[in-house]
Amino acid sequence: MSKILIKIDGQEVEASEGMTILQAAQSLGIKIPTLCHHEKLESYGACRICTVEAVINGRSRLVVACVYQVENGLIVTTRSDKINQVRKTILELLLSHAPDSEQLQELAEEYRADKGRFEKEASFCIHCGLCVRYCAEVKKKNAVGFVNRGARREINFVPEIVAKECWNCKECFPLCPTSALQAAYVLTEALLSSSPPYETKPGK
Ligand code: SF4
Ligand code: FES
Repeated sequence: MSKILIKIDGQEVEASEGMTILQAAQSLGIKIPTLCHHEKLESYGACRICTVEAVINGRSRLVVACVYQVENGLIVTTRSDKINQVRKTILELLLSHAPDSEQLQELAEEYRADKGRFEKEASFCIHCGLCVRYCAEVKKKNAVGFVNRGARREINFVPEIVAKECWNCKECFPLCPTSALQAAYVLTEALLSSSPPYETKPGK
């Protein structure tokens, strides 16, 4: 595999082909914030909080570090006024969904984001897709998915699969940066217990 020489925040690093900027930065111990990234899952690029500045062939661009793959001569800046401003706005939009999320609040403090800047959205879900992708890619169960489009996009558990698979798993719970997942699950469980044809545990 060919080696690629890049610079991140002034430090040279030898990266491998196919590596993302995020992985190269992590190999140097440089922290880039992430919300929709998980090392066991395919890159998704949904939240944009990992936005960094990349210069290639003299052209500077804002790119998503968890998706953008390294190329020879790439110069990356992971923190600047411009990047801080982008992350601040992203956080303010996400906080309009989940103003009490601990993870978002910590980042909001770091980037001086105002949780009241945008009107509160109805859903607590920030559409990071971690629960949906983890269930599909790692557990191969597809018990939870997205329904609707645009502003009405929402996660939805499939009761028939929940009844068989979720009761002793729940590995997606700690991945959720907000309380949306647990709330949706509790609703599904309530639906299941009020609908006798569904079994909630094998043999019960
Ligand atoms: S429920 Fe949570 S983990 Fe699932 S997509 Fe929404 S914010 Fe992400
Ligand atoms: S962590 Fe990169 S887009 Fe979400």
